[in-house]
Amino acid sequence: TIEKVHAREILDSRGNPTVEVDVYTGHGFGRASVPSGASTGSNEALELRDKDDRYNGKGVLDAVENVNSTFAKELLGMDVRNQREIDELMIALDGTDNKMTFGANAILGVSMAVAKAAADSLGMQLYRYLGGTNAFALPVPTMNVLNGGKHAGNELSIQEFMIQPKGAETYSNALRMGAETYHALGKILEDKYGGSATNVGYEGGYAPNISMTADALDALVSAIDEAGYTESEITIGLDAAASEFFENGKYSIDGNMLTPAELVDYYLELVDTYPILSIEDPFHEESFEDFAALTSEAWDTIIVGDDLFVTNVNRLAKGIEMDAANALLLKINQIGTISESLDAANLAMRNGYSVVVSHRSAETEDAMIADISVALGADLIKTGAPARSERTAKYNQLLRIEEDLGDAARYVQL
Ligand code: PGA
Ligand code: ZN
Repeated sequence: TIEKVHAREILDSRGNPTVEVDVYTGHGFGRASVPSGASTGSNEALELRDKDDRYNGKGVLDAVENVNSTFAKELLGMDVRNQREIDELMIALDGTDNKMTFGANAILGVSMAVAKAAADSLGMQLYRYLGGTNAFALPVPTMNVLNGGKHAGNELSIQEFMIQPKGAETYSNALRMGAETYHALGKILEDKYGGSATNVGYEGGYAPNISMTADALDALVSAIDEAGYTESEITIGLDAAASEFFENGKYSIDGNMLTPAELVDYYLELVDTYPILSIEDPFHEESFEDFAALTSEAWDTIIVGDDLFVTNVNRLAKGIEMDAANALLLKINQIGTISESLDAANLAMRNGYSVVVSHRSAETEDAMIADISVALGADLIKTGAPARSERTAKYNQLLRIEEDLGDAARYVQL
């Protein structure tokens, strides 16, 4: 049973405050901290900020207080294993659709820490507690090695250029392939654009001062080759985060203003030219129809909905109905509880969608999403470059899970 719940304000990887929660039971302990986005979807659950004179208004003392005064009392004595009951209680107490009363950051911090305390109380690994006996598959890491959009100071419209070592035999091999390619890319960028080209963006990817999508993709292709891998062993994933370059019905990219139909053709051309396996948020977050147009034409490409679905079962159900995509990006802080996140993943998988478990551009040392990805048997995990500790915390946790699984470990085959 839950004996104590305590929240505090800590810093995230962007140097902004975030919520950390400790949950104590008679036999266990769980500590969790909450991430934060920069290119957030408009339909995400509300991240409560103090909006006062501390930390440029970004303090989270109100959210912390909501945990310490309300949830700490309400959860006292509850069975920590009753994740869904606890999550539903917090949702009911909040009483709003987007968790604006207490803040999704307050609610998620508790929800995560409860799951960790439950696993600890039972003496189980978190991935095993959440996933049961079916948790044995390690996801393909999709590593963001070149940053643009809102995550970097350059002029690239597309936010994330990722590498996916899907041809590896094991997860640990995949991680090595990714890190080697990351370093090859750094060398290529430095030779071509000078030393400042290897400065990094929010997610640890390089942020060279380039503006053309093709230049970024050419550099990735060269890096894969330079590192000694083929284009079938390491593929490329893009996160366009297209809401961020959508202006008056058109998309500003590579110096052009493209209509949605022209942008469909633009992506089809990219997919033909480069070894691209996945494209996330190719259109504005309300453009279900344009998503569907691309999904039907790019038949062997993984089309991922992030800001489109915001890990929300209602928006995902609409997308499934419309064949808007074929993969769900799962961000636990978009919806605000572990139970609702698992519901979204299950709805996706039941309908043949892939699940891509994802970090945010501001992260902490918390590695829980690594355990969630294995618990779900997700196809992919997206957690930044294979560099910077808030990113490698997740990749390294997957190494530990692989070790724990031993001979039972499988690397997802895409
Ligand atoms: P964000 O970016 O965390 O800044 O929203 C990540 C993404 O768009 O996938
Ligand atoms: Zn995204």
